[in-house]
Amino acid sequence: MRSVVIAIPLTLAVLAVLAVVAGGCGKNSSQSAGGQPSQAQVMFDTKCAVCHGVNGAGDGPSADAFEPRPHNYTDPAWQASVTDDQIKEIILKGGVNLGKSPAMPSHTLLRNRPEVLDGLVKIIRGFGKRP
Ligand code: HEC
Repeated sequence: MRSVVIAIPLTLAVLAVLAVVAGGCGKNSSQSAGGQPSQAQVMFDTKCAVCHGVNGAGDGPSADAFEPRPHNYTDPAWQASVTDDQIKEIILKGGVNLGKSPAMPSHTLLRNRPEVLDGLVKIIRGFGKRP
């Protein structure tokens, strides 16, 4: 009888701790979902920045290896020289298929992920808008 008396409050205590832990996790995951970078941003940072630079200035760690180098996307003259469609085309087809540097890889699978492709164009355009 005595063990039942102890077991009930113990169970309640365990449940209370679980509720706090679960509640805490839920809060954390929704917070990080809100603050998480977009898929396009993750892709730029992990796949493009090594050549194009985190700020799109064409100064990524491996940029020096390329001739021609990637352009400086913070340059207004460059921004004015290309259309959004041209940016999308080279991302999809790669430099080699457009008579440009073969160092610029193709990303044909992005055809099926237009929101990521549009996001990359926005990121590239955004480099031109920074002070
Ligand atoms: C291995 C290095 C490398 C990687 C990785 C790379 N690029 Fe490039 N990219 C280049 C080079 C070099 C050029 C210049 C091509 C030319 O002008 O002949 C270029 C050209 C471009 C252009 C055309 C505009 C320009 O500079 O002439 C765009 C847009 C572009 N890259 C976007 C991207 C995006 C978005 C990614 C990631 C999804 C990416 N690149 C990944 C090397 C790279």
